[in-house]
Amino acid sequence: MQILQDKKIVLGISGGIAAYKTPELVRRLKEHGADVRVVMTDGAKAFITPLTLQAVSGNAVADSLLDTQAELAMGHIELAKWADLIIIAPATADIIARIAAGMANDLLTTLCLATSASIALAPAMNQQMWHALATQANVKTLNERGYLLWGPGCGEQACGDVGLGRMLEVEELVSLGSDYFSDKYLQDQHWVITAGPTREAIDPVRYISNYSSGKMGYAIAHAAVRAGAKVTLISGPVTLNAPVGCQLISVNSAEEMHLQALLFAPQCTIFVACAAVADYKVANIAAQKIKKTNDVMQLELVRNHDIVADVANLADKPFMVGFAAETQNVEQYARGKLVRKNLDLIAANDVAKSGQGFNSDDNALTLFSAIDKTDIPLANKQIVAQQLVSLINQHYLAKQS
Ligand code: C5P
Repeated sequence: MQILQDKKIVLGISGGIAAYKTPELVRRLKEHGADVRVVMTDGAKAFITPLTLQAVSGNAVADSLLDTQAELAMGHIELAKWADLIIIAPATADIIARIAAGMANDLLTTLCLATSASIALAPAMNQQMWHALATQANVKTLNERGYLLWGPGCGEQACGDVGLGRMLEVEELVSLGSDYFSDKYLQDQHWVITAGPTREAIDPVRYISNYSSGKMGYAIAHAAVRAGAKVTLISGPVTLNAPVGCQLISVNSAEEMHLQALLFAPQCTIFVACAAVADYKVANIAAQKIKKTNDVMQLELVRNHDIVADVANLADKPFMVGFAAETQNVEQYARGKLVRKNLDLIAANDVAKSGQGFNSDDNALTLFSAIDKTDIPLANKQIVAQQLVSLINQHYLAKQS
């Protein structure tokens, strides 16, 4: 089941330029299973139309406190009671000030007073406005009252300024929403996850690597953190931010990853080898940059250690999960690796199919144990990771009992 399945979310939109991102936010929340009702301030309607939000949410948009028809359909008190969570995105300096002052001069501020649900604010404003003493005092007040503060992020702003005040990206808001509802079912577990590619040096300026983006491993780390696990993420070079709350160990080569994996694995509950580790390294790394003097150049390569197999050979080995990225005979090769590498589970994907696997945002997996297999259908890697983490845990618990 998806984490946001049947969760009732009121999305309050106030009048900032970041309001143009809210249809996508609604779409993504719904994709994760949430039921979304949108409330707009008058200011919001200057940036985006209620019709758009109605179309994407599948529900009528509420925008007036004093509309008799709307009050007949789902009145403001009913809406306040209906919500499991209220997200205000974008939250302008004005709405933050009005909520902090306890005002109820429109539907959104009234809802904030009338609800017992948690309220998350995703601030979006010019960096100077964010830093203004009044705004900071209002935010502090709301923080002390238990409001959740999601952002703001830092970066370029619509007005051309650069600094704090950007609304968090839709993906980050959805992820924070999921974290809010997540069941901390891995609370007592320590997961060690390898992710990303490795780089095998040729000389001081060149290396051999592969197309792994690290997205799948990072998504697994995120899902495990969200489920309450302690997570150590041993990562090759990628351009992703490590999930908040996980311990990141950055490495370059397979040899460095091997060293760190053997260091952390004996303490952990579950070891997930998601990294695309280079099978070979250069036998003699040149100390100086190699010059192009010859028409043909030969590199001697030697096998790298198999990290997952070495961890699986430890006397006190954790529960072992490997990955098999294949371009053909997926089941046969995956089952072969499961046995050969002494693993409990192997997650296989067909990287020959377009739109999934290496460097893509989406993936589809089949999880093999010695006795069964489970398909995880094509979806965003975050969603695939949530299902995978839950399945791994089920297999782990079954092995313990
Ligand atoms: O590359 P291969 O298909 O053998 O990878 C299967 C599994 O083994 C993956 O989980 C991968 O992370 C792991 N592996 C490893 N060390 C290697 C090669 C692969 O941990 N040197």
